[in-house]
Amino acid sequence: MSPGQIQVTCIGGATVDRKYRAGKPVQLRTSNPVTSERSFGGVARNVAENIARLGVKSSLVSLLGRDEDGNAIRRDLMRLGIGTQHLATSGEHPTAEYVAILGPDGDLALGLADMAIFDSLSPSLLHQVWPETSSSWVFADCNLPSPTLHDLLDLARRDARMLAIDAVSTLKVMRLPRDLNGVGLLFLNLDEAQAFLGHPSTSPRETATALLECGAARVVLTLGAGGLIAMDRTAFTSVASMPAKVVDATGAGDALIGGTLAALFRGQSLAEAVRTGTVAAALTVECPHSVRPDLSPALLASALARCAGQKAEGEFS
Ligand SMILES: Nc1ncnc2c1ncn2[C@@H]1O[C@H](COP(=O)(O)OP(=O)(O)OP(=O)(O)O)[C@@H](O)[C@H]1O
Ligand SMILES: [Mg+2]
Repeated sequence: MSPGQIQVTCIGGATVDRKYRAGKPVQLRTSNPVTSERSFGGVARNVAENIARLGVKSSLVSLLGRDEDGNAIRRDLMRLGIGTQHLATSGEHPTAEYVAILGPDGDLALGLADMAIFDSLSPSLLHQVWPETSSSWVFADCNLPSPTLHDLLDLARRDARMLAIDAVSTLKVMRLPRDLNGVGLLFLNLDEAQAFLGHPSTSPRETATALLECGAARVVLTLGAGGLIAMDRTAFTSVASMPAKVVDATGAGDALIGGTLAALFRGQSLAEAVRTGTVAAALTVECPHSVRPDLSPALLASALARCAGQKAEGEFS
């Protein structure tokens, strides 16, 4: 895929995720028999995959170790048709890894995150890549170090580029500059928003308004199974989540972002696009994977049609 064809460039985390399931309650300081599975994660990687599965060409800018995990991530991205020309490798750190050890009930007994490699997603790497992505939208996650995020907002503002950001966590959202000018679209949940703003008690609508006042052009504030609100300086939309039988909620936020960006890219309004994103998120929580492997424009269209039918019957608003 030539760089000119890329429609959305995703910058940030790519990880190998390993889940170990114990048949009996996990005991520390001894050996626990488990079954294990490996998958690929990282917010930017997941968003790039969701976007690609929805038929919009994406590429990933991230850092992988010189190891088998890094090779496996790269091979999988190529299989998915995601651009890998700006994937860098580090000789210093292994590929980022998240390990979840689950008890027999599926609850997390212990989580381990080795993400040190992301500290090397430096401003100089960004400045190197930026000119080559000039015709695409940019999505970035807050796995990027703070100086890189600061430069990213400056570049987006300078070049009037569409930049979408995901907060990732209450800790990582603090890496964003206080002045959010340059952010075209900010995705975050209520905890992340309140951590950034430093005032916990306001309503979701007041919280989103405060983020617009910080300079973000549009805000999508997610509320888990409670849905989301989307706001720009002139419009406010509240969308209920689509009823779903939850199998594994991992990846809901990333599917919401991928679905919303793909829909915006195709010309939908923010209010329409977040509905599309909401349906992509519901389809994802209904499957055991963090990105739904059969996600496609056709699957999304049929779920959207089903949901419009339910809405007509007053079950979904
Ligand atoms: N149980 C659920 N049923 C249906 N939809 C859900 C459910 N949980 C989340 N969603 C959808 O996913 C969107 C994002 O979820 P959430 O607010 O939990 O994001 P997040 O906290 O960023 O999660 P993540 O850990 O995946 O990043 C919600 O706005 C909603 O549309
Ligand atoms: Mg999230």
